[in-house]
Amino acid sequence: MKPEDIKKIGVIGCGIMGSGIVEVCARAGAAVTYLELDDEQVERGRARIEKSLSRGVERGKLSEDDRVGAMSAIHGTTDYEDVADADLVIEAATEHLQTKLEIFRVLDGITRPDIVLATNTSSLPIVQMGTQTKRPDKVVGMHFFNPPPVMKLLELVRAITTSDETMDFARGMGERLGKTVVVAKDRAGFIVNYLLTYYLNSAIRMLEEEFATKEDIDTAVKLGLSHPMGPFELLDLIGLDTMMSVAEVLYDEFRDPDVAPPPMARRMVHAGFLGRKSGKGFYDYSS
Ligand code: 3HC
Repeated sequence: MKPEDIKKIGVIGCGIMGSGIVEVCARAGAAVTYLELDDEQVERGRARIEKSLSRGVERGKLSEDDRVGAMSAIHGTTDYEDVADADLVIEAATEHLQTKLEIFRVLDGITRPDIVLATNTSSLPIVQMGTQTKRPDKVVGMHFFNPPPVMKLLELVRAITTSDETMDFARGMGERLGKTVVVAKDRAGFIVNYLLTYYLNSAIRMLEEEFATKEDIDTAVKLGLSHPMGPFELLDLIGLDTMMSVAEVLYDEFRDPDVAPPPMARRMVHAGFLGRKSGKGFYDYSS
């Protein structure tokens, strides 16, 4: 299929990344059905999308009519059968390999054999998801960045099993979604998260060593490097659990102690201090 012929997109998972991907796809004119575990999560996902679209209107990025149009193109479900007729499925479930492998087994069984199955994984091997299916040539990484409606990059990840045809399709699809596409091989962390893990881990270690305060490190990076956020603000946005699971995968692949999750971050994840999504991370968001 050509990207312009894609009418219905299935998105598996409607958390921080999934909801953003749903929004991006609907704003590009596709009908989108997202899958969540239960009705409460379906509702939570919908509320997240509503909030982001309204923010887009407030910021003058889309019209009220487009907001209404996008919302009416989006449907939440807890039943896999509702994505069986999708022309493309993007998996954006939790960063847990066994969960993703199971999702790919199910998707392969219910969707048309000619459609592309993509994963938004931030670091896990695409090839393993491909080999759960009878169409490994049609499995590709489509890695979006947080928040997907704002961030312009789409990192495509090519497994050794992914075909040229699938790569061409994914590139065209990314462009239809309004993204700038880069291509990386299927190696832990791809381009961005490989670099990001060294950077964020270094910042956490600076804090562990009491080299500087988190506020000063954040200010230094914002004003000295012109980043929109400092490392601790960014960790809170991404979620410490997500970032530390990326770090685990990188450590597993490269055995470089610099990418292993720093003890401070591990303890924070154990305590539930995950960042914005839990109301507390390096900073407090309870108010
Ligand atoms: N739709 C479209 N545009 C929107 C929008 C929406 N729903 N919501 C906001 N925007 C636009 C705004 O209009 C504004 O655009 P402008 O610059 O043209 O005026 C821009 O987005 C910024 O919005 P705000 O001013 O409302 O918000 P902030 O200034 O607070 O910025 C931020 C928030 C975009 C998160 C910014 O701080 C930022 O870019 N931070 C860095 C984020 C980052 O690095 N993300 C990557 C993380 S790594 C990752 O995701 C990989 C994963 O695998 C771990």
